[in-house]
Amino acid sequence: MLENLTEIKVTLVVGARPQFVKSAPIIGEIVANHKRIRLEIIHTGQHYDPEMSAIFFRELRIGRPSRNLHVGSGSHASQTANIMLRMEEQLMKTRPDLLIVPGDANTTLGAALAAAKLGIPVAHVEAGLRAGDMSMPEEINRKLTDHCSSMLFAPTRTAVANLRKEGLHGPFLTGDTMVDALYKILPVVQDRAAAIVKRFGLDNQEYVVATLHRPSNVDDPERLRSILHALAKIGKRVRIVFVVHPRTRSRVAMLGKRATSDSVGITLLPPQGYIETLALLSRARCLLTDSGGMQKEAFVLHIPCVTVRSTTEWPETLVGGANRLVPEPKKLSRIVLEKAYDDAWRKTLSQLRNPFGDGRASARIVQIILRSDWRRSAQSSAKTPA
Ligand code: UD1
Repeated sequence: MLENLTEIKVTLVVGARPQFVKSAPIIGEIVANHKRIRLEIIHTGQHYDPEMSAIFFRELRIGRPSRNLHVGSGSHASQTANIMLRMEEQLMKTRPDLLIVPGDANTTLGAALAAAKLGIPVAHVEAGLRAGDMSMPEEINRKLTDHCSSMLFAPTRTAVANLRKEGLHGPFLTGDTMVDALYKILPVVQDRAAAIVKRFGLDNQEYVVATLHRPSNVDDPERLRSILHALAKIGKRVRIVFVVHPRTRSRVAMLGKRATSDSVGITLLPPQGYIETLALLSRARCLLTDSGGMQKEAFVLHIPCVTVRSTTEWPETLVGGANRLVPEPKKLSRIVLEKAYDDAWRKTLSQLRNPFGDGRASARIVQIILRSDWRRSAQSSAKTPA
């Protein structure tokens, strides 16, 4: 048992926006309660704009990463390869006992591969999610990361079952660390929501929040044009607050001015911080999104969600129609408006059980790290039967 060892050197790697949220409660738990863990935080620099990165460290009160690898943007191969190269260099210098990687971004896979090949055990937080769609970069990242990890922290029962189906035994069912983060910050969000909504000129207004950034939706100009057309149609009936991701911003710019010129009912906003995003969401009539994390945040906050995709890695959100998958842009306006104004059905949403955990996933993860013999399981590989 590792409980008797004096100190454990743990490196946690983040780089893309959702990873800051997923990691914050783990960092908080280690810093507050576990002095035996010497934690180093590395930022790969995958996301670098202040509104995509620095604001999250402030709002979530996470200490500054000790190192930023400044990998920046690029093709998937070059971004992942740069993360691998720079992580390998770091890991060879610092030789942590364990590397923690959250989520499914290129940062997750690049860091996990670099560590696994150096024989450093990898712990994957948010293991076992599957959308069943290998055309998504995230699906490739999550599958490969799971298969080179020594410890698998699964947020839900479905995730545990997915891992077992792939022959990965011994995952830990912990709950979801994003729910830990959400529960922790909720009082602040509730406190500030009215002021935030007012700041955006939305007080006394009914509105739908929209976010889009998946390559499958925004990289194909025809598809993006059809989705923008659907937003404009919805905007004629209810205000749309469209929070525009940098990838989407550049793709919309390529379409030219006409793409948004008829969008009278649309308020365009740059990427928002965590508190602002949750505040906007908490008062919305409906969420239209292709984000993974926001489908779940809407579910926990009892906000109806329409997901512009044909699959989801969070199938639990589909229960009771709380989240509806609508890949066809033509159907979006009808379904969003139906969802937004079905008040009787909205009431039943608030009675749905939250299957994503009790807000204590991070505490469980840290306890397991302290108690498990992951060094041995690393040597015998994650596929060893439990
Ligand atoms: C990444 C993750 C995705 C996650 C999303 C959250 C992968 C494969 N995808 O997608 O799972 O849901 O983050 O935001 O890792 N850009 C900026 N400023 C930034 C960051 C990016 O302008 O701070 C622009 C660049 O033009 C870049 C593009 O956004 O080319 C896309 O960024 P990238 O990190 O490659 O992927 P995301 O689409 O953000």
